[in-house]
Amino acid sequence: MSVEGPAAPVPADNVLDWLDVEAEKRAQAGLVRRLRPRAAAATELDLAGNDYLGLARDKRVAGAAAAAALKWGAGSTGSRLVTGSTELHAELEQELARFCGTQAALVFSSGFTANLGAVTTLSGRESAIVTDASIHASLIEGCRLSRADIAAVAHNDPSAVAHALRTRRHKRALVVTDSVFSVDGDKADLTALNNACRETGAAMLVDDAHGLGVLGDGGKGAVHEAGLNAAPDVVTTVTLSKALGAQGGAVLGPRRVIRHLTETARSFIFDTALAPASAAAALTALRVLVEEPQRAERAREITATMAERFAAAGLPTSTPEAAVLAVRAPFPDDAVAWAARCAERGVRVGCFRPPSVPDGISRLRLTANAGLTDAEVEQAIQVVTETAPAAS
Ligand SMILES: Cc1ncc(COP(=O)(O)O)c(C=O)c1O
Repeated sequence: MSVEGPAAPVPADNVLDWLDVEAEKRAQAGLVRRLRPRAAAATELDLAGNDYLGLARDKRVAGAAAAAALKWGAGSTGSRLVTGSTELHAELEQELARFCGTQAALVFSSGFTANLGAVTTLSGRESAIVTDASIHASLIEGCRLSRADIAAVAHNDPSAVAHALRTRRHKRALVVTDSVFSVDGDKADLTALNNACRETGAAMLVDDAHGLGVLGDGGKGAVHEAGLNAAPDVVTTVTLSKALGAQGGAVLGPRRVIRHLTETARSFIFDTALAPASAAAALTALRVLVEEPQRAERAREITATMAERFAAAGLPTSTPEAAVLAVRAPFPDDAVAWAARCAERGVRVGCFRPPSVPDGISRLRLTANAGLTDAEVEQAIQVVTETAPAAS
């Protein structure tokens, strides 16, 4: 391989010219992404966001955020190890752990940083990581940072995970999976994965970002549903930004895991703590969910209804098990145009296409929101169905 070393000086204006070349390649591949303005008041039905329980705009939740900002300040002012830990953070951790049935919890500034912290501190150079091929980008980044030996096996194939665990070189191993996969909304077989871990002395890390608030008894999540919440070898990560309608993330699990993370996770130690407003919003949303567990059921019911109706209309639809479902489009451009037609008719849907989808298949991604009325669900179904491209 020839390596081009430093050449003649280049004018400063041209040093980043390669960015334009890359942008042109993305444009040719139909992979342009653009930010679009968002109005404060909702002007369309939102089936693109992750506000599964309809709590992001709940007055109790938003009001708690406002009150916390006035009491504690707009930001956390630093890492909790430096500027101290507020009672809000402590209460949120206690209540999250109690709700999910784990010994302890540690909150992070996002689900992304929670995943980075959990993966890197539970693995390392001297260990193996076995992952499902379809894990979330934040887990993939954690794996890359961990310097562990990584085996990414076929999607939703516990026997492939077991094989990789049995044939590994390292004594220590960590299985990393989403509980509900972000793209199609299908569930991992956590019991089978845990069995494979136990047979081979591996630990398990489950990202329950899409399970918390939606799956399990009253929304306690997929790990609780699988009866693994109190397991000594299972660690769970969650985001506070989906079902809880706030912002932030958390790691839940055995007390000694939480101590280990507090003392060694760089994305906790060197990151400004979760903002007080976000902590208060998540805490209030959690309390609302405890009082109104039917929200979890409603989110699941809406997803199942949409999936049934799309399938009946002949659209290639995923088999959703939580609040996320996908409908396939023939090509990336079809997906983009389909999403645009939905938006024109007042329904906002997600559009997933390569490289965000590991299997290269373009899709519309729809999410349930427990706050939608039956009439709104019906409207969404009609719009998506009537605007579908011919060959989908
Ligand atoms: C499965 C999964 N894990 C982690 C995250 C990251 O969470 P956050 O948005 O709180 O950083 C997301 C969010 O997109 C996700 O879908």
